[in-house]
Amino acid sequence: MAVEGSKAAPKGLEGVVATTTAICSVSDNFLQYRGYRIEELVGKAEYEEVAYLLLNGELPNKEELRDFKAELTKHRTLSPFLRGLLQEMSETGTGMDVLRTVVSASAAEDPGEGDNSREAEYAKSIRLTAKLPTILASYIRRRRGEQPVPPDQTLGHAANFVKMAGLDANPRAAEILNACFILQAEHGLNASTFTARVVAGTNADMHAAVTAAFGALKGPLHGGATDGTMKMLDEIGSPDHVDSFVDKAIAQKYKFSGFGHRVYLTEDPRAKFLRRYAIELSKEWKGKPYFEIQERLAKAIAERRAKMSPAAAAKVNVVNVDYYAATTYTFLGIPADLGTSIFAVGRMAGWCAHVMEQHADNRLIRPESEYTGPNGKRWVPLAER
Ligand SMILES: CC(C)(COP(=O)(O)OP(=O)(O)OC[C@H]1O[C@@H](n2cnc3c(N)ncnc32)[C@H](O)[C@@H]1OP(=O)(O)O)[C@@H](O)C(=O)NCCC(=O)NCCS
Repeated sequence: MAVEGSKAAPKGLEGVVATTTAICSVSDNFLQYRGYRIEELVGKAEYEEVAYLLLNGELPNKEELRDFKAELTKHRTLSPFLRGLLQEMSETGTGMDVLRTVVSASAAEDPGEGDNSREAEYAKSIRLTAKLPTILASYIRRRRGEQPVPPDQTLGHAANFVKMAGLDANPRAAEILNACFILQAEHGLNASTFTARVVAGTNADMHAAVTAAFGALKGPLHGGATDGTMKMLDEIGSPDHVDSFVDKAIAQKYKFSGFGHRVYLTEDPRAKFLRRYAIELSKEWKGKPYFEIQERLAKAIAERRAKMSPAAAAKVNVVNVDYYAATTYTFLGIPADLGTSIFAVGRMAGWCAHVMEQHADNRLIRPESEYTGPNGKRWVPLAER
């Protein structure tokens, strides 16, 4: 509840423009990376080209792309130190906890540790972007009780991940995941990127900033909504249960995962691509009818908007990126609790680009808070409390 006469920014900093950026712009039904709308990139670009674009500001030419890919390929392998940590954590750790911790630990062996120069951070961006799919794929294998499969130097970013994670049963897996990584690569001042920039703003290094970003991405209001969507669809269990689920959910002011967005008011431009992949992949899917459930759910929520508060009705009008990403990943054979981790694999390049941009023209990010607590209290000795 806003305090009367308060000078504080709107709750959740809604509508506040906190910085400038040349990396990405986001507005209703509009998302562009460095001047290229996602509709220009998806289906045409390789993830590596988009990562290069985010980090450098321009698409690479042939030689630049070859060299960039060669650098990425070179840094995919994990050291014995990281492999050991991964193995120990994989027994009980969740995907996002493992990814965050192994990425954080990689600072300990990074040759550029403590160096925030552009050159050092560019090299770190490559190392982090290259290693993250290996970390996730190794975790997936370990959880299945298998040995990790080493990176394949002949394959691109997405295809190599598909092979390492054992998703190659579907011949379209690499192409679809390549598009998904692009769709997740960058998104302006979302919560995890803002977190990364706040940490970078203290002149802390890239590993510190990216580790913090992982923490923010995990939350169910942000990237955690991908895993949250699968949990919700599982709980519903069948298309026949959708209507009663929605009626109860509205009465309890439940937040439907995969619905609502702070910036997109009519459409999330990423969702249409993911819905197409979900439709395509659902045809071969032999498990629970997740796609049927989610289509019925979207319809049931739309039909009941009049029963919600105006604010909630406006929010659920938008199906966001996580809703169909969740089923797309599940249909590709990715465990239902690892959709947020896939999101992170795509987002790494975006986070790194923002850390570099922050450091290139840095000033400590330190807003103020308006005090609303009591004043002038007097010390009471412990025996008298
Ligand atoms: C994305 C999200 C965090 C944006 O939040 P926001 O702009 O801060 O909006 P608020 O949380 O203030 O919501 C405003 C109203 O809409 C409701 N609302 C928001 N998202 C809702 C959802 N997914 N389902 C049902 N109601 C929702 C809130 O309960 C609130 O209702 P009230 O005013 O009656 O109390 C929010 O829509 C949400 O929690 N979505 C579900 C999680 C999700 O998918 N996150 C991924 C985003 S890409």
